[in-house]
Amino acid sequence: MINTGKNREHWANRAGFILAAAGSAIGLGNIWRFPYMTGEHGGAAFMLLYLLAILLLGYPLIVTEIVLGRASQRDPVGVFKVLAPNTPWWLVGALGVFTGFVILSYYAVVAGWSLAYIYKVVIATSNPGIDHASIFKNHISGVWEPIIWQAVFMIMTVGIIAAGVVKGIQRWSTILMPILFVLLVILIIRAITLPGAEEGLAYYLKPDFSKVTGRTLLAALAQAFFSLSLGMGALITYGSYLNEKDEIPASAAWVAGLDTGVALLAGFALFPAIFALGFKPGAGPGLAFITLPAVFAQMPLGTIFGVLFFFLLGIAALTSAISLLEVVTAWLIDEKGWSRRKAAACMGVVIFIVGLPATLGYSVWKDFSFPGLNTDLLDTYDWFANSLFLPVGGFFMAVFTGYAWGIKHAVHEVNKGHKAFAVGTWWTLLIRYFVPVMIFFILAIGIYDTFVK
Ligand code: PHE
Repeated sequence: MINTGKNREHWANRAGFILAAAGSAIGLGNIWRFPYMTGEHGGAAFMLLYLLAILLLGYPLIVTEIVLGRASQRDPVGVFKVLAPNTPWWLVGALGVFTGFVILSYYAVVAGWSLAYIYKVVIATSNPGIDHASIFKNHISGVWEPIIWQAVFMIMTVGIIAAGVVKGIQRWSTILMPILFVLLVILIIRAITLPGAEEGLAYYLKPDFSKVTGRTLLAALAQAFFSLSLGMGALITYGSYLNEKDEIPASAAWVAGLDTGVALLAGFALFPAIFALGFKPGAGPGLAFITLPAVFAQMPLGTIFGVLFFFLLGIAALTSAISLLEVVTAWLIDEKGWSRRKAAACMGVVIFIVGLPATLGYSVWKDFSFPGLNTDLLDTYDWFANSLFLPVGGFFMAVFTGYAWGIKHAVHEVNKGHKAFAVGTWWTLLIRYFVPVMIFFILAIGIYDTFVK
C-alpha cells in the first residue's frame, strides 16, 4: 500500500487489491467450512445452490461493497455517514463491524486447530491404524491446548494489522497461496484414486433435490456470503483503499472465481476420500481435520505433505482473519480517531475473550445447545454470524445502493476507472429486485424451518 492524498493508504496496483481481496475470501471457508456444510446438507444439491448463490447474489454484491468503499473512502460505518448523512443507514455498517467481531472470535479457534495440526498431523500419519476421529476429538476437548493456539493465531493477526497492513502478508500470500493450490491438486489425485472413491464423487456431483429444505437454502446462501467475505464490510474496507481509476467489475469477478475454484477443489479432495476411507460426510466441523490426515497417511511422503498443508491452511486463514480485524480497526481509526496499533491490540484482546466460549464449547460447555440449532457453541456463533447477520447486511447494502444512494449514481461510480467490462441493466435489476427479494425469501423460509417447523 502507498499513501496518497488525505492520508489514506491505497493499494499499490490492481494486482495488490485482487490478491488482498482473494486472500480475504480464500480461507477456512473454502477448505474447512464448505466441505462440512456440503456434507451436512446432502452433497451435490447443496453445492449447486451454493454456486447459484455466488453467481446471482454474491457477484453483484461484491461489486456493490467495493464501490461503496471506493466512492466514500471510508470504513463500513463511515460509508453511510458520507453517502447518506444524518440517516440511520450507518447502522448497516455497525452491524457489519459487529459481525466481523463475532466471526473473527470463532475463526481464530478453527485457525488454531490448523496451527496445532501442523504437528498433530505427524502423529496422525505416522501411526498406521490410528483413529483419526479421536485424535481430533482429544485435541478440541483439551481446553488449554486449543486456547493457546487460538491466542497464538490472534497475536499473529494483531501483529500484521498493527504493522500497517499487507506489505509482508501480501508478498507472502502471492508465493504461498499457489503452493496451497498445488497441494490441493495432489490431494485430489490421491483421493480420487483410492478404491471406493466413485461413491464420494457421485455424492458430490449427482444432485438429489428432494432433500432441499429452507435450511439447505439458507445454508447455501450463508456459505456463499461467508466464503466471499460478503455482507459485513470487509470488501467495503478493502474497496476504500482503491482509487477512482481502479476498475471494479473484472476485479470482482477474479475474486469470486478464485474463491469458488478453491472451494470446489477442496470438495474433490474430501468427498472421494470420505467414502473410500469410511468416514461420514455429516461429521460436522471436524470433517476436514479428520479426513485429510487420513488421506495423507495413505500417501508417500504423507507426513511432509501434511505438515505443509496445515501450515498453508494457517496462512490462508491468516489472510482472511486480517481482513476481519481490519474492518473493526478501520472503524476505530476512521470514526473514533484511535491509532492503528491501539485499535488492533485492544480489539484483538476483546475478540479473543469473546471467542473463548466457542473453544470451551467442546470441553467444559459441551452440553450447551441453542434451541432449534442443536449444535455446539462454535456452530452457534457461526449460525448467527453467517446465516443471519451476513444476509441481513447484504440485503440492506443492496437496498441502500438500489434505492437510497440511487442506482444510476451507483452504476456511474462502478463504471469509473479502466475496465474490462462495465455493469449495466443486468446489475441494476439484480441489485434492485432480485438480490433483496431472494435474500428476504431465503432468510424467511430458512428461519421458519430452523425455529418454527
Ligand atoms: N472468506 C473467509 C473464508 O472463507 C472468511 C471471512 C468472512 C473473511 C467474512 C472476511 C469476512 O475463510
